[in-house]
Amino acid sequence: MNSDNLQTKTDKSAVEVPEHPHWPPLSEMEKQQLTSHIKRLLDEQDAALVAHYYTSPDLQILAEETGGCVADSLEMARFGSKVKSKTLVVCGVRFMGETAKIINPEKRVLMPDMEATCSLDLGCKIDEFSRFCDAHADRTIVVYANTSAEVKARADWVVTSGIALPIVKHLAEQGKKILWAPDKHLGHYVQQMSGADILLWDGSCVVHEEFKSVALERIRRIHPDAAVLVHPESPQAIIDQADVVGSTTALIKAVSSMDNLEFIVATDRGIFHKMQQQAPNKLLIECPTAGDGASCQSCAHCPWMEMNSLQTLAATLESGRNTIEIDASLRERALRPVQRMLDFAEQQGIQMKKRGDA
Ligand code: 13P
Ligand code: SF4
Repeated sequence: MNSDNLQTKTDKSAVEVPEHPHWPPLSEMEKQQLTSHIKRLLDEQDAALVAHYYTSPDLQILAEETGGCVADSLEMARFGSKVKSKTLVVCGVRFMGETAKIINPEKRVLMPDMEATCSLDLGCKIDEFSRFCDAHADRTIVVYANTSAEVKARADWVVTSGIALPIVKHLAEQGKKILWAPDKHLGHYVQQMSGADILLWDGSCVVHEEFKSVALERIRRIHPDAAVLVHPESPQAIIDQADVVGSTTALIKAVSSMDNLEFIVATDRGIFHKMQQQAPNKLLIECPTAGDGASCQSCAHCPWMEMNSLQTLAATLESGRNTIEIDASLRERALRPVQRMLDFAEQQGIQMKKRGDA
């Protein structure tokens, strides 16, 4: 990556990565009781469950059984306005709940844990980001959805990994120069694929940042027929080894549509549940995170996503706590770039998935 394009150095130590939460194991009976209790509460409160692919299988199964949705962040954003339910319960991270509220202000939006955030969001604070934008006022501001409502409000466009490339290509065709934040790896990938003039913010995802290229080469030698599936938040040296680079939805589709029987997967291992459900006969191998003897902070699982559990979900529905509130004028400003993305997706025919599909 050309360091000339990295204009702002993020202080990595400022991003505090929490310990993985340890949920007390539930017996099958306890799980069934808790699940029935949550289903009743969802029903009573006219609430729909929207879960990301990185959350626990228990939550993904519950979302599907109750007519909610399990999706990537683009589809999670779109789902809220397609359902009639008065309440949306977003099992994912903070920016996903905020995006749901930005699009659906009339709905009550709850999250199991308000501390569930994202290293990209934490590493892109509005004051520093605003100064960066002011210093490059000639550029179109494109921000990844993994950002706060304040950062979105400062942007011209919001994108998710599923739609970043077509939007940037579209802007490049209009001769626009782009300021991109916060994920430098996704930004660099989009820059390479589109040829656009992009100035990058220096942020990254603590989960994808830890994939190790030498260890991946070694695993590929052991599994020469495996296809390598990579989320574009991964470093360049990992993307360089990919057979498929794409959003979580695109990677899940690849497992069922490709003929390969083995896949090495460079993204959060929470995704394995859906991949295995769609393609039970395929072998899924985790892309290595820690090098020889090294330790890893995340070990390919997002500690913030893991804050979502059956227990925290039940507690939220019981108490009504953890409601996302966004100031009306901030919401209106943040909606503009989000709506632009949704309208673009609509025009491009990037279809809302059928329920239960990847
Ligand atoms: P997707 O939009 O591909 O689901 O990615 C969201 C995310 O946070 C990946 O780390
Ligand atoms: Fe953020 Fe990375 Fe977690 Fe996705 S996996 S929510 S990008 S920290």
